[in-house]
Amino acid sequence: MTRSRPECEAAGYAETVRLGAAALIASPLVTKYLVTGSAGHLGEALVRTLRERGDAVAGLDVLPSPHTTVVGSITDPAVLRRALDGVTHVLHTATLHKPHVVSHPRQDFVDTNVSGTLTVLEHAAEAGVRAVVFTSSTSAFGRALTPPEGEPATWITEDVRPVVRNIYGATKIAAEDLCELAARESELAVVVVLRTSRFFPEQDDRDAVRAAYDDTNAKVNEFLHRRVDLADVVQAHLLAAEHAPRLGFARYIVSATTPFTRDDLAELARDAPAVVARRFPDLAEDYRRWGWRVFPTLDRVYDNARARAELGWRPRYDFRAVVERVRSGGGPRSPLAEAVGAKGYHAEPTGVYTMGYRATAAEEAS
Ligand SMILES: NC(=O)c1ccc[n+]([C@@H]2O[C@H](COP(=O)([O-])OP(=O)(O)OC[C@H]3O[C@@H](n4cnc5c(N)ncnc54)[C@H](O)[C@@H]3O)[C@@H](O)[C@H]2O)c1
Repeated sequence: MTRSRPECEAAGYAETVRLGAAALIASPLVTKYLVTGSAGHLGEALVRTLRERGDAVAGLDVLPSPHTTVVGSITDPAVLRRALDGVTHVLHTATLHKPHVVSHPRQDFVDTNVSGTLTVLEHAAEAGVRAVVFTSSTSAFGRALTPPEGEPATWITEDVRPVVRNIYGATKIAAEDLCELAARESELAVVVVLRTSRFFPEQDDRDAVRAAYDDTNAKVNEFLHRRVDLADVVQAHLLAAEHAPRLGFARYIVSATTPFTRDDLAELARDAPAVVARRFPDLAEDYRRWGWRVFPTLDRVYDNARARAELGWRPRYDFRAVVERVRSGGGPRSPLAEAVGAKGYHAEPTGVYTMGYRATAAEEAS
């Protein structure tokens, strides 16, 4: 049976009273999170952070892991009912994604990403959950990301209309639409969709980039326009869950803050190093010393302004921050990203981006 929002809040209040005055002061409503995909990179990072914060959290994944409390599929109603016991906020990260496009049939994408998300939404509504945050991807923009030959780079905001590129993007968009429908039909009080840019720690998925650039060089370059650190992704999810009650349905781009403006787009498509040299004259010497290069051209820039303005999100890892981390002898990644590490995406090697890659000792030390 679907509980109304006031009923849920009353239930939360009653629970708070049962726990005593200390809980009442700390939080007017008891919260418990469910993280789907808790054996994955983002899921583990969320469970770790919530546990460290002292929040109650359940983790659901088809794979057992130290961060998974319920082993099973998001497509299984019985599993979801068990996992949602007492849950007030769902952080839905479980997915088949880009590395699986080469290894899984399209139907698997529809089953996990579309049917699985619908099952999560319907059971969250039935359980009286207050907010669902759905992790989508900037890949959902698809072909809209790439400008025609000779045109300026694209400036990507939440208002850009996606143009489908592959089954991953198609099913993420379908899942986003199901989230919007659930929110608009008031089955759920709020649903927030985060279109997250790349944070994967594995080598780059483009042959040309792997051949031409040191891996850290390539990843640091991407903080200019299309990458985000895992720790900042976690903060965006927690803020989305926290602010959900005043947001209703909302969609945000989650990517590192770019140093560029729309005025840079034409030059970025012709000569990106010239724009970077003007913006960061003090970092040129670091790049020269390390033998690094800025990519010659950039095709798109993700704008995170809406997430910063409406969620109060303050991503800490931008281009300057990650260069300075490398300069001071550390890796570019946050301690949380380092702790989660690289898990790979398949049980068996399936390609460079998907091979169950483990960082070498030298990479770990760098
Ligand atoms: N990795 C990136 O760079 C990146 C970029 C943009 C968006 N995203 C989004 O972030 C989210 C997390 O990505 P990630 O890199 O942590 O992925 P991941 O592959 O590391 O984790 C996903 C988890 O979901 C689990 N899962 C798959 N099917 C399931 C099912 N039916 N039921 C329960 N669990 C299931 C997997 O076992 C896995 O542990 C995804 O929604 C993805 O689309 C990731």
